[in-house]
Amino acid sequence: MYNEKVLEIFKNPKHVGAMADANAIGKVGNVACGDIMQIFLKINNKGIIEDASFQTFGCAAAIVSSSIACDMIIGRTIEDALKLENQEIIDILGGLPNHKIHCSVLAKEAIEDAINNYRKNEKK
Ligand code: FES
Repeated sequence: MYNEKVLEIFKNPKHVGAMADANAIGKVGNVACGDIMQIFLKINNKGIIEDASFQTFGCAAAIVSSSIACDMIIGRTIEDALKLENQEIIDILGGLPNHKIHCSVLAKEAIEDAINNYRKNEKK
């Protein structure tokens, strides 16, 4: 069902686990399957994402998409990270089965949630 690249990343995903010093956390659930995705970001005072990690009970598609998404946003500004398109992640993975696309959206949505939470906390 998955291509070689997806399977390879799944065997050794990067950025896995909670981050103790994260200053932005996002959490979303997948309505289709009930799985949960959490994203942890460390954002510096210039608005640049210095580090990102994830934790999920989701499937292989969710795990590999999150690994790639974290790779892609580290070093970006939060404004730039919000522009991340899910199709970019899928393209890097060389495609995902159609019925797994909804799993790959979790990382992007959790990143958006984390940045929204960060902005809310900044205003306090
Ligand atoms: Fe739940 Fe993929 S089946 S995240």
